Amino acid sequence: LQNVPLFQDLSVTELESIAPLFQERKYKKGTILFLEGDLGEEFYLIGSGVVKIYRIDNYKEIILSLFRQGDFFGEMSLIQKGLQRSAAAETLEACSIYTLMRSDFASFMENSPKLCMRLLEVTMERLRKANEQIYNLTFLDVRTRTIKVISQLAEEHGLQRSSGYLINMKLTHQQLANMVGTVRESVTKVLQELQEDDIITIDKKYIMVKDPERMAKLIY
Ligand code: CMP
Repeated sequence: LQNVPLFQDLSVTELESIAPLFQERKYKKGTILFLEGDLGEEFYLIGSGVVKIYRIDNYKEIILSLFRQGDFFGEMSLIQKGLQRSAAAETLEACSIYTLMRSDFASFMENSPKLCMRLLEVTMERLRKANEQIYNLTFLDVRTRTIKVISQLAEEHGLQRSSGYLINMKLTHQQLANMVGTVRESVTKVLQELQEDDIITIDKKYIMVKDPERMAKLIY
């Protein structure tokens, strides 16, 4: 837990008191953890794997965020009493997840100003990203939005390799389209252009950003 950003300011004693309250669960790829509108009973912390936070409307999906090791989610409906899950969550890979019951989460928050402050910081970071998403969807064209999504994935989930930054998760064109807020065909077209320009390569659904600088120039 010491490596989890949310708990970074906690003392060893505090960590020792919270650790036994978590339950570890393993999930297969493609498991729906909860749906939008469900009652929120647990707080989730990712031990390994990737989780997608999304909303659906008539079979169309928008991905709000991708979370991975050390990230948490499911706090909103626990803090906003009486409100339900604001989005759905599904595993994109096999995951190990630690859950904390609503009552334990509440009592820990009440007793730890440091934890509250960290949670607020992370929430603000998420609000910033959500604002960025509103801006992008309102003002930018699909091509620019697609390039921005890939750049951001490389920044957040990129592993440095001699030939560039490897985005550390398998992504289908449809999933990328659901992050960009467009149809699959449009993403396919942009990905093809980027490959022809030798800015990215794609191997078995893994994207490698070969030239992040040239990619950044396409956005600004
Ligand atoms: P909750 O509403 O309990 O269930 C869905 C969870 O998804 C929510 O808590 C947050 O943890 C997370 N979530 C919802 N919207 C966003 C967003 N825009 N960005 C990142 N995470 C979100």
